[in-house]
Amino acid sequence: TARAETMAGAAASLTALAEAQEAFDGIELRKGARNFCFADGNPAARVMIVGEAPGEEEDRVGRPFVGRAGQLLDRMFDAIGLSRMAVDAEKALYITNVLPWRPPGNRRPEPAEIAMMLPFLRRHVELAQPDLLVLMGNTPCIALLNQQGILKLRGTWATAFGLPALPMTHPAYLLRTPLAKREAWADLLSLSARLEGGGA
Ligand code: URA
Repeated sequence: TARAETMAGAAASLTALAEAQEAFDGIELRKGARNFCFADGNPAARVMIVGEAPGEEEDRVGRPFVGRAGQLLDRMFDAIGLSRMAVDAEKALYITNVLPWRPPGNRRPEPAEIAMMLPFLRRHVELAQPDLLVLMGNTPCIALLNQQGILKLRGTWATAFGLPALPMTHPAYLLRTPLAKREAWADLLSLSARLEGGGA
């Protein structure tokens, strides 16, 4: 962890951070992954989404949230006028994950893996300087809030890395549990209201 702290802390730009993180060899995970997934979208965005880890499709492509869950994520945020393709920071999204490498067979990230990569995520948020974070599912809540139980946490604003952070149910969960889309919609509206409220 000390080495991760040092490497992450030394990165003065997102490009430098991506290079440092990709080169970090203090974790076994990277050996089993095909590609390193740093981020996607517009780093100038006011909203930064933190997911869990790459899945199969993400591992193939090297970008977060490009599989089925990612397509649902895009539709959800599109409904409140936010997109990873937007150039305007007000309408943009910036997307990353707690882990940049796919865990074998999509197993859940282990606490030691989350702890090991956390300095990179902290620096990622510092350099991107979003106004708000969205914590997609349990893993980023464990990583950033030290709490779990997304079904209880969702919809209640918390603080992560000093920023307002909204836990939401993961789109992969929504694909399996369509009735939960109702709460996810309420959370999107809460996010939208917070953005329109000015200073976040
Ligand atoms: N699920 C995640 O949490 N992140 C991805 O990038 C893809 C699926």
